[in-house]
Amino acid sequence: MGKESLIGKGLWDSYSEKVRKRMNNPTHFGSFTEKDASLRNLKLVDVLHGSEACGDAVELFLLVEENTGKITDAKFKSYGCGTAIAAADIMTELCIGKTVDEAIKITNLDVEAALRDNPDVPAVPGQKMHCSVMAYDVIKKAVASYKGVDIKTYEEAEIVCHCGRITRKTIEDAIRAKGLTTVEQIMEETGAGSYCGSCIKPGGHEPKNVYLTDILEEILKPVKSEKSGPAAEKKFESMTVPQKLKALEKVLDEAVRPSLAADSGGVEIMDIDGDTVFIQYLGACAGCASSGRGTLDFIQATLRDRLSASIIVSPYRD
Ligand code: FES
Repeated sequence: MGKESLIGKGLWDSYSEKVRKRMNNPTHFGSFTEKDASLRNLKLVDVLHGSEACGDAVELFLLVEENTGKITDAKFKSYGCGTAIAAADIMTELCIGKTVDEAIKITNLDVEAALRDNPDVPAVPGQKMHCSVMAYDVIKKAVASYKGVDIKTYEEAEIVCHCGRITRKTIEDAIRAKGLTTVEQIMEETGAGSYCGSCIKPGGHEPKNVYLTDILEEILKPVKSEKSGPAAEKKFESMTVPQKLKALEKVLDEAVRPSLAADSGGVEIMDIDGDTVFIQYLGACAGCASSGRGTLDFIQATLRDRLSASIIVSPYRD
């Protein structure tokens, strides 16, 4: 098989020596039959997994010792590009000697790592990383078939970037914690989208259930609408008293009263003088004014955070 038929000529130098060797001379290429298995008193697992996007497919054959679940031998056939062949070959090798429960833990990142010549240098160019994902998927399918369970049994947290095995939670946490506002920042921070690029937005190499652009928009939408909301349009300081009252009531309803109600308390606005808001406690909060500033500070901090840093909250005295 000529290398130019497997990959683009310009990319050739981005492949490790191990990848180049295995794509041309895979070590575990082949198959097993039921007869092979029964002669060795082993169970044959034979599964085929394909990637619609690439048109690649890999068939994995495992010989399993039934009393221990140990994979004593394995072979594969691959119908695809050179990287898919190299990834399937090393994946097959990683399975041999492991139990099926150990094999299910092999990920495409392990496959890629095992193909590196130098631990610090990727074995394949980023855009070919997705070829190792197919190798990972076929193991899950094989183990599910061996155990007679649905493949969904082995689906963990929602993976958004399959090349880097980066979960939705990791991406969401990064956006919130670091205040990320662009896809480029997400890629920089988490690595998601930095390989084949399919998970960035629709129209990439293969379709995804959710894209980085979707997650970003979902998280930023409330922030944007909050910033463009009526309260933000006009500064608290320049509002009329009825406008201030309306804005204050809204914040109290959304962010203060539910907490007070949990302790059978409440709060009411009695007067507004400039930026000073006079309140009266209700229910169990009625003793708050004398028992300390905790509740007052909480209300003031919430109003300042949502409306204006100049707001002063004071207990009402008639
Ligand atoms: S799925 Fe390939 S870069 Fe994310």
